[in-house]
Order: sequence, then C-alpha cells, then structure tokens
Amino acid sequence: MIPVAKRPTKPTPERRAPDANAGRSAESPKRQVSGTAAGEVGIGLIGTKFMGRAHANAWSQAGRFFDLPKRIRMRCVAGRNPIETKAFADRWGIAAATVDWRTLLEDPAIGLIDVLTPNHLHAEMSIAAIEAGKHVACEKPLAGTLEDAKAMAKAARAAAKRGVKTFVWFNYRRCPAVAFARQIVEEGRLGRIYHVRASYLQDWGKASTPLLWRFQADQAGSGAHGDLNAHIIDMARFITGDEVTEVVGSIEQTFIKERALVTGGGGEIAGKGATTKRKTGTSTVDDAVLFLARFAGGAVASFEATRLATGNQNRNQIEINGEKGSIKFDFERMNELLWWDDTLPSALRGWSRIMCTNGGDHPYASAYWPAAHLIGYEHAFVSMAADIALALGGKKPVVALPDFDDALQTQAVLEAAIRSARERRPVAVRELV
Ligand SMILES: NC(=O)c1ccc[n+]([C@@H]2O[C@H](COP(=O)([O-])OP(=O)(O)OC[C@H]3O[C@@H](n4cnc5c(N)ncnc54)[C@H](O)[C@@H]3O)[C@@H](O)[C@H]2O)c1
Repeated sequence: MIPVAKRPTKPTPERRAPDANAGRSAESPKRQVSGTAAGEVGIGLIGTKFMGRAHANAWSQAGRFFDLPKRIRMRCVAGRNPIETKAFADRWGIAAATVDWRTLLEDPAIGLIDVLTPNHLHAEMSIAAIEAGKHVACEKPLAGTLEDAKAMAKAARAAAKRGVKTFVWFNYRRCPAVAFARQIVEEGRLGRIYHVRASYLQDWGKASTPLLWRFQADQAGSGAHGDLNAHIIDMARFITGDEVTEVVGSIEQTFIKERALVTGGGGEIAGKGATTKRKTGTSTVDDAVLFLARFAGGAVASFEATRLATGNQNRNQIEINGEKGSIKFDFERMNELLWWDDTLPSALRGWSRIMCTNGGDHPYASAYWPAAHLIGYEHAFVSMAADIALALGGKKPVVALPDFDDALQTQAVLEAAIRSARERRPVAVRELV
C-alpha cells in the first residue's frame, strides 16, 4: 500500500473548495513558516514526470555538491497514479507518496512545496501552500494566465511578511555561461546595449505529436509562447538587468490545428509512450510566437519561440550586442559563451569561445568538476536547488533567484505579446501590471 502522510479528517477551508480559487478565500488560515527548522529543509514535491525527475535529482544532489546551511530532505511526493507515485518515491529515496497533494500542506516536516504540475494548477497549489505557511518553488511559466499569476504574486507578497519565500524555476539563469554573461554586462564590458536577439527553437511539436496538455489552452495557457518565450524573456531580463517596457508587434501561429486524442501514458515531452485514439481534438494553443519589443534602457529586442523549427531540438539562444562588445549563448553548447570584445585592436577582434567551467572564475563551476569537464541539463536544476537552500538558510544565492513578483513581470511580457498579436497593436507592459 502506498505510505501516505497522515492528514486530519476535518476538512480545511481549501479542501471544501476544490475549484481554481481554492485557498484564496479570506477565511484561509495564514500560517507561519514550518518545516525549515532544525537544520533541515523538508521538501514536498507535486508532480512526478519530466520536471519531477529533474527536481528530485536536484534536491538529492544539491547538498552533495554545495556546502549548504541546511540539509535538504525530500519528505513526500504527490502524483495522480498511486503505483507510479510510489515507484517514483522509491526510486528517488522519498519517504512517502500520496495521490492527494493537499496532504503536503498538513505535514509539519515539509517546509517547501515544489510545484511541478501543468500550468493551470500552479495558482491553486502555490496559493494553498503559501497560505499553509510553506515556502513555494513553482515551475515556469508562473501560471497559464496573467490573472492567475497576479493572484500568486499577491498571495506571495502578503505571505512574505510572515517569512514565506517564493521561487520560480527559471533554470537557464543557472547555466554557468548565462550567469557569466550577466557578470560581463554588470561589469560594463558590453557598454550600452543596442540589441537583444533571443529565440528558443524546438521541433517536437510535429503533426504526429498527440494532444497533450501542452496543446490545450485551459491547461497550458499558451503553447510554445509560455513554454519557451517565458525562458528567454527571463534570460534577457536577467542578463541585461533591464525590463521590457513595450511589445511593438507580434505574430501568433497555430500550424497544426488537430491532434490525436490521448488515452493514456505519454510521460515524455513529445508524448512518446502515449496511447492515442483515431479521433482527433483541436489544439487551442500557438505552435509559434514571434515578437519585437523595447527595453527601458533603450535596447530593441526580438523574441521567437516555436516547436516546429525542424532540426532545432532544444536551441535556446540569446545574443546581445552592445557598444563595446557582444555575447552569444546557445543551450545546445551550454558550457560555452561566445564573446566579441570590440575594445581590442581591430586586428585582434573576433569571437572568443569561453569554456565557462573554471572553478573560481565562472559561476557554479567550483561546485562541480575540473576545467572543461562538462556539465549538462540537470546541473542548472541542482544549482537552483542549492541556491534555494542557501536563501532559506539566510545566505546569498550564487545568482539572483526569481520570486513570484519577478516572474509576474515575465508573465506580463508574455501577455503583452499575445494581446499585440490578437489586437494588432503595440502593447505597453505597464497596461497589464
Ligand atoms: N524549467 C524547465 O525547463 C521546464 C521544462 C519542462 C517543463 N517545465 C514546467 O514544469 C511543469 C510540469 O511540466 P512537465 O514537463 O513535468 O509535465 P509532465 O506532464 O511531464 O508532468 C506533470 C506532472 O503533474 C502531475 N499532476 C497533474 N495533475 C496533478 C494533480 N492534480 N495532483 C498531483 N499531480 C498532478 C502529473 O501526474 C505529472 O506527474 C510545467 O509548468 C512546465 O511548464 C519546466
């Protein structure tokens, strides 16, 4: 039998209201932070698939690679299928498993709830956790809709007064090359920034990919846009230290309008292993969104996200051009940062390929392996878990951690791009937040 953390039989106000607004009522208990005492941060995870694996690995590895003020312990995981959830807990060394995520709210050993579910569930789960006095780390995008994101940021702001902290998993900030790009900009090595050119290109959204939750607006909010543009908007804001003020124009395109209905399985991002019906359903999200924007500091920017860039599997790239130099990052070569130093004599100018793996020189590099012993996708999550534990232990994270308020800015840019595409007009971000 699945070992489930005990929960009281008396229903809480959240349990009596199982709709999307559950946990937001004025009667909800506003509890003090629990589960981070005695040198330990107890983690409760919700979600067991793609991000479930990435995060369970991160929480279990962080204390092995970083010196942390508190020990991290995964106390319970919540999923939907009891057998799969128990197997997940066994595989990752998690003490308990449950199919009722609200159990985590009642567990005094849990100090942080990690929300790894489809986007439409982020608000309900995060707000209930915040109100139960738990810190929350939520996957990106902050929510499926701007309205949900605003409610989450509002709840987080109110709970911050009681010591509750929130975090959003914009993991690409923690690729050493991206964190190093931020340092280069901060040190003024690019000078005035003219252009930000960001694109996140994938190609798994082919016609053969079934109608997963990622293609349903009521669950995902949007398609490639919220999934991929969210990452590059955050990266652009993070590296430049500047804010997008206006989306000038935008295109939203759905190429594949009908997809096979899913009957079961489909844990992989492209629905690999899913069983499907002959019958199809309508995709209600974009396959691609491209937009132009302006930053407060005067830079102009282009953003492009698509799941149909055939041949580009996970090409998350950003290029920034400044008066004194430029940088380029491509996640498919994630250990490297390209740098053009325009202050050099013209005969010496050229793109330098910097391997961002030197301990002591490059962010996070000293936590892992000797120079040029490369790291991979999972390390940015491990580094983020470590930064969260540092922040909860009163220490400075290696790189700034986005909270719900910070992620709300990214969400507002996403919304501005969608409105701009649908209303065919420029949209100022301040109209929205
Ligand atoms: N940071 C990144 O790079 C990155 C990458 C992929 C996904 N994500 C984000 O992570 C989130 C999850 O994506 P995923 O790829 O892991 O999705 P997935 O479909 O692989 O997994 C979703 C999980 O949520 C669980 N779930 C759904 N409803 C639930 C409920 N009511 N109670 C408990 N569990 C429930 C499912 O059982 C499953 O385990 C999304 O918000 C997505 O945007 C982020």
